[in-house]
Amino acid sequence: MSTYGGFPAARPRRLRGSAAMRRMVAEHRPHPADLILPAFVREGISEPVPISSMPGVVQHTRDTLRKAAVEAVEAGVGGLMLFGVPQAKDAVGSQGTDPQGILQVALRDVRAEIGDELVVMSDLCLDEYTDHGHCGVLDDRGRVDNDATLERYAEMARVQAEAGAHVLGPSGMMDGQIGHVRGALDAAGYEDVSLFAYTAKYASAFYGPFREAVGSSLKGDRKTYQQDPANAAESLRELALDLEEGADMVMVKPGLPYLDILRTFTERVSVPVGVYQISGEYAMVEAAAEKGWIERERAILETLTSFKRAGASLVLTYWATEAARWLSRDR
Ligand code: PBG
Repeated sequence: MSTYGGFPAARPRRLRGSAAMRRMVAEHRPHPADLILPAFVREGISEPVPISSMPGVVQHTRDTLRKAAVEAVEAGVGGLMLFGVPQAKDAVGSQGTDPQGILQVALRDVRAEIGDELVVMSDLCLDEYTDHGHCGVLDDRGRVDNDATLERYAEMARVQAEAGAHVLGPSGMMDGQIGHVRGALDAAGYEDVSLFAYTAKYASAFYGPFREAVGSSLKGDRKTYQQDPANAAESLRELALDLEEGADMVMVKPGLPYLDILRTFTERVSVPVGVYQISGEYAMVEAAAEKGWIERERAILETLTSFKRAGASLVLTYWATEAARWLSRDR
C-alpha cells in the first residue's frame, strides 16, 4: 500500500528503522558538559559515609571529595555543586559564614586540586548549618525572617567567593536574595562570581533523602518560602524578579514533576536555564532498578534526555559522572 485514502503514505517509522538512523535524527541528547554533579562534604569524618536513601551517594571526606572532583573532570562533567555538612549547628548557622567552615575549606581544596578545569559552585543556604533546619534565621515568633536572613546570605556569599567558588547557588527562596547577594559580592570586589538562582524551587516531598544527606534536623516544612506545587504563574513572577536582580542563570527544581515549568522558562529567557534532578528522583530510580523493575541505565538516560527536550541547558544530577562516561562511550 503506497497511499492512505489517496494521500501519499506518511511513514514516520522510516526514520526509526535502524540504530544509525535513530542516532542521526535524534533531536536532543544530553552532553557531559551540561551535567553538574552535586556533592556533599562532611566535617570531621575519616571515611566517606554512605547515604542510605541515596544508594551510591556518600557524604565525602575532604580527601574523597577531591578525588570525586578529579573523576568528574576526567569524565568531562561541566561543573560541581558543593554542599557542606558541619559538625556543629546553631540558630544562625555560624559555620556557613566561618572562613574555616567545612564548605569553605572544601572549596579551597577543590580549587587547589582542579583549578579552573570545571565550574565550581556552592550552595548558598543556611539549612545545612542551622540547628532548627530552616533555610534562614528565625524571628522571636519562630518564623523565618526574610531580611535578617539576607544579611546572613550576604556574609555567606563573601566567604564562599573568597574560598574560590566560581558560581554561587542561592537556594533559600528568600525574597530579594539575588539582588542582595549580587550587591554584597560587587561591593566586596567579586564582580566575576556568577549567580545561579534557584528561581522556581518548589516545596517538594522529593527532597526527603537530602535531609539525610545533610543531617538536617528540620521538624516542620518550608512552605512559607518555597513555592506551592499547585502554582505555575507564580514561578514567572520569581523568574522576572531574579532576572531583574541580576541572576546569571536560573533553575527549576525538582526536575521531572516540573517539566512544564522548565519548558515555560526555556521558551522565555535568554540566560542558561538549569534543572535540578533532586535526591528523591534519584532514590526512586535507584530503588526501582534495584528491585529489577526498570532498566537502570536506560531509565537514567531517559530522564536526562527529557530535561534536554524541555530545553534545559544545564542538569544537576547525582549521576553526572557516571552518565558522562556513558555519553562519551556512546558517542
Ligand atoms: C537547600 C537545598 C535543598 C536541596 C538543595 N539545596 C533542600 C531543600 O530545599 O529542602 C535539595 C536537593 C536534593 O533534594 O537533592 N540548601
